[in-house]
Amino acid sequence: MKLFIDTAHIPDIEEIASWGIIEGATTNPTLLSREEGDPREILYRICEIVKGPVSAEVIALDAEGMVKEARELAAIHKNIVIKIPFTVDGLKAVRRLADEGIRTNVTLIFTPLQALLAAKAGAAFVSPFIGRLDDIATEGMKVVRDTMEIFMNYEVETELLVASVRHPMHVLEAAVAGADIATVPPKVLRQIVKHPLTDIGIERFLADWEKVKGGKAK
Ligand code: E4P
Repeated sequence: MKLFIDTAHIPDIEEIASWGIIEGATTNPTLLSREEGDPREILYRICEIVKGPVSAEVIALDAEGMVKEARELAAIHKNIVIKIPFTVDGLKAVRRLADEGIRTNVTLIFTPLQALLAAKAGAAFVSPFIGRLDDIATEGMKVVRDTMEIFMNYEVETELLVASVRHPMHVLEAAVAGADIATVPPKVLRQIVKHPLTDIGIERFLADWEKVKGGKAK
């Protein structure tokens, strides 16, 4: 499973990209609204740091407007992928953009059938929002499992990108379900790295090595 970073905050992206585990990034209007500066410049910077697909979302709600905005966003960098919300107009825009060779990530997916329709329209990625489903007492991960099964049944090439990840268990379950990608907020990536037994283990190795240096090891 590939790991994308789910933020528009450049310092976090720079730091975590340096770990060597990040293969793409996702943004949305909310994430970009939290950052200072021109969103287009932020998106360009993200593309320069993360050597992989970087999702940038359209604001228009009509197919015509989405396609126009998508072309402008795609011109920022070759790695930009256009995030389109799942609506009828969104599907129309996805089809037109696919025919033009512009990759899309259909966002705000909450059912496997929405994912199937988005794939049929030509989406490169579909993003089920699992955390927001869990928030309303509906198992988000079931959408991931069922969508994966459907995509496997029909050898669908669209990649399943697990979004709205809130904690490490979401990442674990996404990987066990065989999801293609999980987009993960910096906080959760840092939680995954941390394990108290690893820290204790390092501490103990270093303490023992100090004894060797002092000629006291048995
Ligand atoms: C990423 O593609 C999504 O926009 C993001 O994961 C949504 O996360 P949230 O539900 O925590 O806002």
